[in-house]
Amino acid sequence: MTAPSSSMDIGVPAAVRSLPRIALLTTGGTIAGAAASESDSLRYAAGALGGDALLRAVPALARIAQIETIAVAAIDSKDADPAFWCALTETVRATRARDDIDGIVITHGTDTLEESAYWLDLMLAAGKPVVLTAAMRPATALSADGPANLFDAVTLAGDTSARDLGVLVTLQNRIHAARDIVKVSSHALDAFASPAGGPLGWVQDGRVGWLRRRHLASLTARDETGSTPSSPLRQTLFGEVPSGASGDRLEARLHVRRLQPSDLPDVEVVVQYGGASPHLIDALLTHGVRGIVVAGTGNGTVNAALMAAMQRAVAAGVIVIRSSRAADVHVSANAAVDDDGEGFVASGTLNPYKARIRLMLALAVGLSERSAMQACFNLA
Ligand code: SIN
Repeated sequence: MTAPSSSMDIGVPAAVRSLPRIALLTTGGTIAGAAASESDSLRYAAGALGGDALLRAVPALARIAQIETIAVAAIDSKDADPAFWCALTETVRATRARDDIDGIVITHGTDTLEESAYWLDLMLAAGKPVVLTAAMRPATALSADGPANLFDAVTLAGDTSARDLGVLVTLQNRIHAARDIVKVSSHALDAFASPAGGPLGWVQDGRVGWLRRRHLASLTARDETGSTPSSPLRQTLFGEVPSGASGDRLEARLHVRRLQPSDLPDVEVVVQYGGASPHLIDALLTHGVRGIVVAGTGNGTVNAALMAAMQRAVAAGVIVIRSSRAADVHVSANAAVDDDGEGFVASGTLNPYKARIRLMLALAVGLSERSAMQACFNLA
């Protein structure tokens, strides 16, 4: 934590001065939703309440942090788009750079939280904690979940152990990596999971504990005594740059980029299902999209009609990513499909929506060659 600035602290009691200074960036969502009745958890206006109202609902926050609220947006997260993501990125960067801020909390809608969190994870360099949170019930509901989630998010953002771990998300006492978190329930309070590896840790009653990070630390120790300090495993787990490929690491390019919405190319998602036709892909080609992510079945497989349309897309110079509509995605390159032969890119463990964000950002910084794109996805 940085030392408090003296000008700001005149008249502030010492016990408060030593508390972490958190910026609460509000963007809308159900966590800030208001309904006509407290028994209404489905019909409500998302993003109706401002940051001060969210804070007033959790008086205990005054014991754990000094909080400044910043309104970024007041949207239902279904309306999140590249313009929103670019603006949010710049606000987080500017706020995080301030000496009088120790950590950032972002309140967000649950519906596209995984997309915004992953976008920020790619765009932001390591440093002060950035934590997203949300709620499944509006703020006016019986047993609203937002207040406890907000308390946990502020706890986590004020904890120095959360630095340098990428963008984090906390809901229902769990800490998830932005890269892994997925909304798995349309209605349950416990609506999020990290299918690929489980949560990173927990937050409870003002305390933070790590699960997977400890596991990674033990792998580090093993590697440090072993003979492969820069193995592909370490590169994947710790985001290390493989030797000779530093310029190819997407994040390294994004951390120094200020993107405008117009920099983001048109990339769409198409789903495989029983009897899926090629019409959508053919229409997208007419429209001139730069990339198509296919949410295939199982290991990213598609029927003959979609396969032929994907081949036409590759022939037209469009990047085609194979992901999966399964809840827990792992699409291996050159396994069920000959990706190298066909000119496709396998998404690995990125679901279609996160694969779309990675592809948009990779195209925006000038990556366009198929094998470079597969290498970029191998490092995701
Ligand atoms: C939204 O995503 O903004 C609305 C739904 C929610 O937050 O749960």
